[in-house]
Amino acid sequence: MDGRKALITGGASGIGAATCRALHAAGAQVTIADIDQRGAEALSRELQGASVLILDITDEAAVAYAFARIAALDILVNNAGIGLVGGVVETALADFERLFRVNVQGMFLVTRAAMPLLLASRGSIVNIGSVAGLVGVKKRFAYCATKGAAIAMTRQLAVDYPTELRANCICPGTVDTPFVEAYLEKYHRHEKEKVRAELNQRQPVGRLGRPEEIANMVLYLCSPEAEFVSGSVLTIDGGWTAG
Ligand SMILES: NC(=O)c1ccc[n+]([C@@H]2O[C@H](COP(=O)([O-])OP(=O)(O)OC[C@H]3O[C@@H](n4cnc5c(N)ncnc54)[C@H](O)[C@@H]3O)[C@@H](O)[C@H]2O)c1
Repeated sequence: MDGRKALITGGASGIGAATCRALHAAGAQVTIADIDQRGAEALSRELQGASVLILDITDEAAVAYAFARIAALDILVNNAGIGLVGGVVETALADFERLFRVNVQGMFLVTRAAMPLLLASRGSIVNIGSVAGLVGVKKRFAYCATKGAAIAMTRQLAVDYPTELRANCICPGTVDTPFVEAYLEKYHRHEKEKVRAELNQRQPVGRLGRPEEIANMVLYLCSPEAEFVSGSVLTIDGGWTAG
């Protein structure tokens, strides 16, 4: 990765932060793009030479402004995302739209803005999808829909730009990040341990994934060893979708 320039959306926390650490350790020059200024700055102090970009990926003008100031980019990791619990009848339109704004529109806006830079470098895009884009997950109507869109956008890009860049999508099972902690706190405050055990059991290996495990898959997909990998949808889910 020596000297290669990488931008990770949602880089301040969880899978994004682990990805920043893994790419930085491999020698990439990392930009942590996030709305969480404190988290991004704390991580940048840990990763020497990393830069911080405070950016709301849903804001078209802000995305255009930010990318107009970036001179070169080899790796884009579209990782920023939010969740929502609820089946179809419990899903408010405003929440459905909010999820699509971040998980789908944000991925679109950042990818579009990064395209001239990625075409110039013959770069690599890694989108973070989810098993929720591949199989139905109970009470995740809107979330499943957005992650299905992430998979579809990845494949479409690989078809439009087969030799110009590579685009791949990682679909993790449940990963131990603040995203999961926030879910437990919001929906299961009084039965966290019971629900945590259920989350572990949802994956046949019997535990949650670790952010570093997803980050290493990102690292592989961005590396020269993955030159033949494009338009792929890779699960990393402890066996969840095997059954
Ligand atoms: N944790 C899991 O179990 C799991 C499983 C499968 C897929 N995923 C996906 O992985 C990605 C990362 O999840 P995580 O668990 O690390 O979450 P996280 O909540 O720990 O981190 C998400 C980061 O995205 C940032 N973010 C949110 N909205 C943003 C916006 N509009 N603009 C810029 N940044 C924004 C947040 O500030 C945060 O730093 C998400 O796309 C999520 O859907 C997570």
